[in-house]
Parts: sequence; structure tokens; C-alpha cells
Amino acid sequence: MSGEIIINFCNLTKRFTSVVAVKDAALSIRAGEVHAIVGGNGAGKSTLMKMIAGVYPDSSFDGSIICEGSLCSFKNVTEAQKAGIFMIPQELNMVNDLTIAENLFLDNYPARHGIIDRRIMYGESEKILENFGLSLRASTLVREIGIAQRQLITIARAMRNDVKVLLLDEPTATLSDNECKILFEKIRKLKKKNIALIYISHRMEEVKMISDIITVMRDGQIIETGKNENMDEKKIVSLMVGKEAGSMYPPRERTPGEVILSVKTVTVYDPKVPGKKIVDNAAFDLKKGEILSFYGLVGAGRSETALAMIGAFGGTVDILMEKNHKPVKILSPSEAIDKKIGYLPEDRKRQGVIDILGVDKNISVASLYQLASKGIVNKKRENETVARIIKALAIKTPSTQTKINNLSGGNAQKCVLGRWIAADSDILILDEATQGIDVEAKSQIYSIMDGLAKQGKSILFISSDLSEVMGVSDRILTMRHGKVVNISDGKKAVREQIIWEAAIGEKEEALHDN
Ligand SMILES: Nc1ncnc2c1ncn2[C@@H]1O[C@H](COP(=O)(O)OP(=O)(O)OP(=O)(O)O)[C@@H](O)[C@H]1O
Ligand SMILES: [Mg+2]
Repeated sequence: MSGEIIINFCNLTKRFTSVVAVKDAALSIRAGEVHAIVGGNGAGKSTLMKMIAGVYPDSSFDGSIICEGSLCSFKNVTEAQKAGIFMIPQELNMVNDLTIAENLFLDNYPARHGIIDRRIMYGESEKILENFGLSLRASTLVREIGIAQRQLITIARAMRNDVKVLLLDEPTATLSDNECKILFEKIRKLKKKNIALIYISHRMEEVKMISDIITVMRDGQIIETGKNENMDEKKIVSLMVGKEAGSMYPPRERTPGEVILSVKTVTVYDPKVPGKKIVDNAAFDLKKGEILSFYGLVGAGRSETALAMIGAFGGTVDILMEKNHKPVKILSPSEAIDKKIGYLPEDRKRQGVIDILGVDKNISVASLYQLASKGIVNKKRENETVARIIKALAIKTPSTQTKINNLSGGNAQKCVLGRWIAADSDILILDEATQGIDVEAKSQIYSIMDGLAKQGKSILFISSDLSEVMGVSDRILTMRHGKVVNISDGKKAVREQIIWEAAIGEKEEALHDN
């Protein structure tokens, strides 16, 4: 069942100095429908959304947008919002130093006689949080909560308005299965309220599950739009990449060697709750040439384990580690680099991408020692390395000096991943390495991981995407509430078993986690 057309646009074209990001795009969006937009990194999805949502003023692009029958020319986001169009951006806008309630009401605080009514604000916020299934207090500072929770709060914030069209740019990139379920429930409810949803995602499974209509973009153009039932995954991927799609995962023909890193024990204490353990006496070995995956729900303690290993956790940690059978102590990320352990953080926006630098420096920054002789960086070798990584990861950038924040979300992430591939480490810790990365590039990343493992490098692969965990790992380690609950053979693992291990008891306990 499809409703009336809420927005249609035609001939939309947006140029940046050196690229045409969107070219002659035309589409109709109907009320009460979930319209998925898929496409490779840099295909123009976010740019198109920003044109519709008033992020790019009408004067900065060509073409026309028609809302409920009348021509619109939004000068800014506020004007688009007045027309009922709201966008949840790929990079979230939240003020870290304000509370959840203050963030929820950022654009219009409830006020009486010009004074903010905190009682109403906090009361309303508690209701919104409860309604969204979030067990958080409205008085919590945003800096203290995870990205998954921020995502849901940003959506909750938009929903306080009269929304006709909600644009979601990769809303699930950072969410766990459980949180995705909450979001999908929300989406279904919004659909029933006759809201039109535009949904960008790189996860084909969920696109198939949640959307009514699927539009594929490639190189700035809309290639095809069709009903979900007429677009199977294989077809979508072929349209995205412009050729027949092959298998996502390289065959596992590796034979991991001896243990290179042995984490005898690691315990991480919650800096906020005295005595509470985020990671509780976890232990595991990583073998030479092995891909060891860490699976678990958000909050299971996987990222904290990684941070503890590289000396980056900002709190009390008890850890005993051996590398090549000798005890190692790592007290800071730079010591980790010295000990040849590379780490790709989960939250690239806050910890990984260096905004003010170009693509080249973002890639080479962790390899500067290797690229230098007598303290001076060998520019030629640096350029070669950067060029090699750009090619290997198919990073789409106008030039090597382009500022990284002018790249599409996925391409910026590939640069940070490339940084650790360039920095010749023995051990690579990748935390949610393929988040926001398109299917083709994901497949390339799996091949690169396979190649590195075959060269004898060891990879600790933290991921919430069980399909990829099942596809790439030699062994799968499952964590739950800070404990290692199982380690299984990657080739023999059973999907349902792993989901069960990661989640059992989750319902009762997780609600009290925060
Ligand atoms: N502010 C900008 N300045 C210059 N070029 C830009 C800017 N924003 C986007 N681009 C370019 O426009 C193209 C489309 O980018 P866009 O962000 O729309 O891609 P996307 O489909 O959302 O990709 P992703 O899946 O990686 O998020 C890319 O080539 C990108 O480098
Ligand atoms: Mg994007």
C-alpha cells in the first residue's frame, strides 16, 4: 500500500569544485513508505539527502524539489524542517558537554517567561527515553554514552517535531542487533503514521528487511528504482558496482601459526561505578597469521579490552600480556605502535579522522617513523605509500591532499584503515572496521585482511556484523558482560549458537547496565 507523493525532485545536480557529486537525480517519495537508497562509497547518497534537507542551500545546486505539490527552495535546514523534512546525518550533531535532556531540547528549550523550565525538560526527556526503550537517565552527559545510544537519541530529537519526511543516513552503522531491532520497530511505527522514510544503508540484509522501495545510486546517478520484491541482493549489488557480483569472502586457506600474543588476563574497571568491571578477567591467545574475531553485543566489553591492550583506556586496568612469549607492558598508544600493534578505533569521528589534515597525512601518520631516515620523512616514499593504500582500498578522492572531511563518510574511514595497513604492524586490532563501508570495499577489506594474515600478520577483528564474523574468522571469541563466554572455530561455528551465547540473559541484565 503506498500513499500520496510527499516529495518529488528532478534534475538535481550538485557540483563541488572538482566532482559532480549528484547528477540529474529524479525520484518520488511517498507517504508511509520506507525508501532505501543504496550505493557505493562516494555514490552521492549523503549529498542528495543534504540537498533535500536544506543542508545545501537551493542556490548551490541545480534542479527542483517539489513538496506536496509546490516548488520548494530551502535556504537552510530550518526551512526544510518547517516543511516537515528532517535529516539524521551520518555524522551526529550532539553537544558532548550537555546532558541528554539538553541535547534533546537543543533547538527549543521549554521556557516560561524566558526561563528554561528544567522540570518539564527533564520530565519530557525521561518519557522520550523510555518510549525509545533506552535505559538512560536524562541527566547523563552525552560524552558518557556510546555512539549507538547517541544515534537513537538524535532520532528521538527529530521526532519531537511534525515530521513528514525523515531522512536516515546510515542509522544502523553503529548499532548492535538489539538496538537495530528497536530502531526498526520505530521505523514501522513511523510508517503507520504515514511518515515517508528515506533510508541509507550499506547493510543489504536490513535494506531487504525494512524497505518498500529500493533506489540504487552509482557515480552520482540514480541507476534504478524498484519495489523491494523485484530487487534481490545480487541484483542490487550488481547495479551498485556496475558488474556481476562475486563472493564477498575470500576462501579461508590460512594456517595460523604459533601464539604471538597471549593475553593472560585483562580486567577493566568502570571509571564511573566503583568496583564495577567492564571487562572481567578475560583471557585469550592470538596466533601468528590468524584472524580472531570478537563478537558480542554493544557493551559486552570488546572495545574496552582492545583499549586496555594498547594502553588507551582512561581508567583502571589490570592486564598481563605476553608478546612472543615475553611479558609486554603497553602504557600508551604510541608504545603500542612501537611494539608493532596497530589499532583502528571504533569511533572514527572522535578518535580516528584528523579533520584538519589531508588524505595523505591521515594515511601516513602512523608510519612516519618507518618512512623517515635520520628523522626526516622521505617524501617520495610517503607518496608511494599513500598512493599504494589509495589504490589498494579504492579510496575515492579528488587528490591526495584533499582535506579528509571533504570525502564521503566511507572513504574517510578507509583512509583511517589504510593508516594501519600502511604502518607495518605485527598485530592489527580493528574495531568495527567495515562500518559504513560499501559492499565492494568491504569485500576488498576482507581480501586485504586475508592477505595480511597469509603474510603472518595477526588480526583481532571486533565486529557486530555476524555475517562478516562468520565469513572471515579463523576463530570467533564471544564476549558477554565483560566475560569471554566462548571461543569457537570460525569455519565450524553455528550462527544461532553464537547469537545465543552473546545474548543470553541479556534482557534482564542489560536494562540495568547504565
Ligand atoms: N564538501 C565536499 N567537498 C568536496 N567534495 C565533496 C564534499 N562532499 C562530498 N563530496 C564528494 O562528493 C561525492 C559524493 O559524496 P557523498 O558523501 O554524497 O557519498 P555517499 O554516497 O554518501 O558515500 P558514503 O557511503 O561513503 O557515505 C564524493 O566523491 C565526495 O568526495
Ligand atoms: Mg554518505
